[in-house]
Amino acid sequence: MKSENLFNVEGKVALITGSTGGLGSLFAEGLAKNGCIVILNSRSQDKVDLQVKFFKDSGYQVHGYAFDVTNTEQINKAVQQISEQVGNIDILVNNAGINIRAPLEDFKDEDWDNVIGINLTGTFKVSKAVARGMIDRNSGKIINIGSMQSELGRPTIAPYAASKGGIKMLTRGMATDWAKYNIQVNGIGPGYFKTEMTRALYENPEFDSWLCNRTPSNRWGDAEELLGALLFLSSSASSYVNGMMLYVDGGLLACV
Ligand SMILES: NC(=O)c1ccc[n+]([C@@H]2O[C@H](COP(=O)([O-])OP(=O)(O)OC[C@H]3O[C@@H](n4cnc5c(N)ncnc54)[C@H](OP(=O)(O)O)[C@@H]3O)[C@@H](O)[C@H]2O)c1
Repeated sequence: MKSENLFNVEGKVALITGSTGGLGSLFAEGLAKNGCIVILNSRSQDKVDLQVKFFKDSGYQVHGYAFDVTNTEQINKAVQQISEQVGNIDILVNNAGINIRAPLEDFKDEDWDNVIGINLTGTFKVSKAVARGMIDRNSGKIINIGSMQSELGRPTIAPYAASKGGIKMLTRGMATDWAKYNIQVNGIGPGYFKTEMTRALYENPEFDSWLCNRTPSNRWGDAEELLGALLFLSSSASSYVNGMMLYVDGGLLACV
């Protein structure tokens, strides 16, 4: 295979959960720019409609399906509709995620359920629904979005860390069960990028200076810098890569 074709994703149907803002929207745009037919998603129909319009105005091939990644009925209905109305899903990016911060001793049970439910159980549920078709077709790419907290703790976000540590092992488990169907399941672990989720952090000068000193690259990541990893894991360039987390973190995990 010529090396220029290795990263080709043209014409592939890609579902990116939680893609009406933040990193998800960037992932969607990155795949759309490279010729994918992208499916945008979040819980809000209004936000999905707005984002679809924005993508269409930019000339991308795009569709939108609002569903909650914790709701099995909504997921199954959307996956069925996507396959009938757009085409079979070739690439799934499990990106939808939330974080809730509080000292663990005060952490509310319902907040724990929400964080684990969306970040970890949601990834399992959407993957199960999409993987069935991939298994039938003997082909597919699943990319789970982890975090630095797939590897490291941080004060006040133990449930988020539990969910993202779980993503690492779920990625390995999916790879173990599904690699034989020519489905490559891998993860991306972003370092720190400026989105709604990290607003409280980047608006805090103390955190900002701590992070820039702590990260060998001495800076926040630019979200565009995640696209190389995304394209690699979405394309045949990674056809024998399975169960791996690819950390894009300016070297943060490499040093104490
Ligand atoms: N930003 C970073 O530096 C960073 C670093 C490491 C990892 N990550 C991970 O990257 C992913 C995206 O983070 P982000 O910073 O871009 O967050 P964000 O800006 O808060 O965006 C999250 C997206 O997920 C959607 N969403 C939330 N709950 C959902 C649900 N139950 N079903 C469907 N969609 C849902 C949101 O839309 P609605 O609320 O409208 O549903 C939104 O579109 C997350 O998994 C996060 O853990 C981010």
